[in-house]
Amino acid sequence: MALASKSSSRVELARAKVNLALHITGRQPDGYHLLDSLVVFPQIGDRLAIEAADALELRIEGPFARDLTGPAEDNLILKAVRSFAEKAGIDVPQVRLTLTKRLPVASGIGGGSTDAATTLRLLEDLTGTYLDDEDQHALALTLGADVPVCLFPEPQIMRGIGGDLSPGPDLPTCGIVLVNPRVGVSTPEVFKAMERRENAPMDLMPEKFETLASLVAYLETCRNDLQDAAKSLCPEIGLVLSELEAEPRINLARMSGSGATCFGLCELRDTMEIERTLRVAHPDWWIASGPLS
Ligand code: C5P
Repeated sequence: MALASKSSSRVELARAKVNLALHITGRQPDGYHLLDSLVVFPQIGDRLAIEAADALELRIEGPFARDLTGPAEDNLILKAVRSFAEKAGIDVPQVRLTLTKRLPVASGIGGGSTDAATTLRLLEDLTGTYLDDEDQHALALTLGADVPVCLFPEPQIMRGIGGDLSPGPDLPTCGIVLVNPRVGVSTPEVFKAMERRENAPMDLMPEKFETLASLVAYLETCRNDLQDAAKSLCPEIGLVLSELEAEPRINLARMSGSGATCFGLCELRDTMEIERTLRVAHPDWWIASGPLS
């Protein structure tokens, strides 16, 4: 598909997806698990640029580019482009996508999902072809259980196998520190290693958390039900969590998704200093920090 303007190009931050709480409440007959999760999108992510080109092309650069080892055709970004064209009934758009991979791969913060969702948003703007919400949601779900939630990078409650979404609470101004020990964890393996699949859902949540203290008090009633299983497969997660818990300026530490990335919540003014302290102690870990929303 030729694009109206050859000069059109856009860049977006494909924000990391962080599960502040992740309860597993059951399992479907097809093996997929039922979740109840509070998901947020901090200002930390991959960078995705799109521009008109002579053919569909994906370039991958950045610190984690070499961890994306499969054939480019298997990348969710290209799958998103092709599925979008099919759903919209248009030719495959001739675009060059440049992914700067800054989030660790297979790390529980939805890197591939957020890249795919960002691709869908960028494609709509670049082609001027907009899917209706239902079609866009259904298409996203075919790309992965976490892709729909990444279409709207705002606090959301995620239920079902990941596709039942509702708006999450307003969050206070605060910071988040993400830490990954640079060990990949396989999501299906973590689900398989779980001991209990029927757990209680999250307690009712207010529409707004005014302060970091009230957010933390609520989150302390929650869990990540995948955390113990992930720790058993990847003991480094336990080390990351105890380092975050030992930092007095961190108010809550937990694992995101199926790991191995863990997060710490803190006052916004403390994020940089905490990041610096952790980097000195663990130069081999991936560490990033920023505003929670
Ligand atoms: O859909 P996605 O590729 O993100 O899921 C990866 C794997 O995680 C699935 O193949 C499945 O084993 C597991 N999963 C699950 N229940 C979910 C989401 C994912 O069991 N709700």
